[in-house]
Amino acid sequence: MKATGTSNGKIILMGEHSVVYGEPAVALPFLATSIETTVTKTSGAVTLDCVFYQGALSKAPERLLNLVAVITETAARLNQPLQDFNITIKSTIPPERGMGSSAAVAVATIRALYRFFEEPLSHEVLLELTNISETIAHGNPSGLDAAMTSGQDPLFFIKGQPFVPFPLNLTAYLVVADTGISGQTKEAVNSIADLYKTAPELTHTAIATLGRLAEQAKVAIEGDKPVELGLYMKQAHEQLAFLGVSNRMLDDLVQVAVKAGALGAKLTGGGRGGCMIALAADKEAAAAVSSALLDAGAVNTWTYQMGDDKRDD
Ligand code: PMV
Repeated sequence: MKATGTSNGKIILMGEHSVVYGEPAVALPFLATSIETTVTKTSGAVTLDCVFYQGALSKAPERLLNLVAVITETAARLNQPLQDFNITIKSTIPPERGMGSSAAVAVATIRALYRFFEEPLSHEVLLELTNISETIAHGNPSGLDAAMTSGQDPLFFIKGQPFVPFPLNLTAYLVVADTGISGQTKEAVNSIADLYKTAPELTHTAIATLGRLAEQAKVAIEGDKPVELGLYMKQAHEQLAFLGVSNRMLDDLVQVAVKAGALGAKLTGGGRGGCMIALAADKEAAAAVSSALLDAGAVNTWTYQMGDDKRDD
């Protein structure tokens, strides 16, 4: 007996961090990266097989605490004892790069467990269980990662409100570049919470500005105005840097992208490492931006055709 569950990566186009404070965000599914979890019948204690660890679930290392919690809670919801199965996770989502890998692991694993025990799984329960894992991983998750990694539509997202899917009618390409440095979402989210205490007015203004830029970005996408979107991306990066969630490499890559002809660029996800994104007017411009980013030290790039909601290479 065997069952599988899948999920995909995500890219936040606009609104990371401010989304935690109730501001809107715009995010895209990143179908170029995915996770598949397989649950197989065994006998004895539950075992786990993933890139970080192979062995008994009860002895999994600290960094997998969120996964252990989600498996335990899902089995409890299913009224199943924690025994007689193995969980194998295969992922092409680079971990800690702002692509939602922790939420995606939870989504694929919850889906696989529900299939294995032949129980129907509502989207609501899937998000609720995923957010248990995200709360351990990030402290105060907005729910955006859970929503994006479990669905395949671009979303306009406001914490606690129904998701608003919208078509990606933009004549442009998005280049995603990996800094090769692990992002620090939890630390970055906590540092903004601290900043809110020490400098409430400045922090509030930056968060509100990021929210307004996300709204303007949505309007720019709906009106197929890539030049405007690029401008909003540049402004968002400045606000995120002001809030202390960028780093030298991200700032450098943003500048390199703009110099190479990008309409705009910014960090994506939690920041302090992870990935950045750059908007290019056409395929040739995207290739030039991608090659400049690789020359400047990015360890990997992906190109995403915005109009068609597909990766292009
Ligand atoms: O770094 P990621 O992919 O987990 O993205 C985090 C996004 C934040 O807005 C910083 C946090 C959140 O919960 O929305």
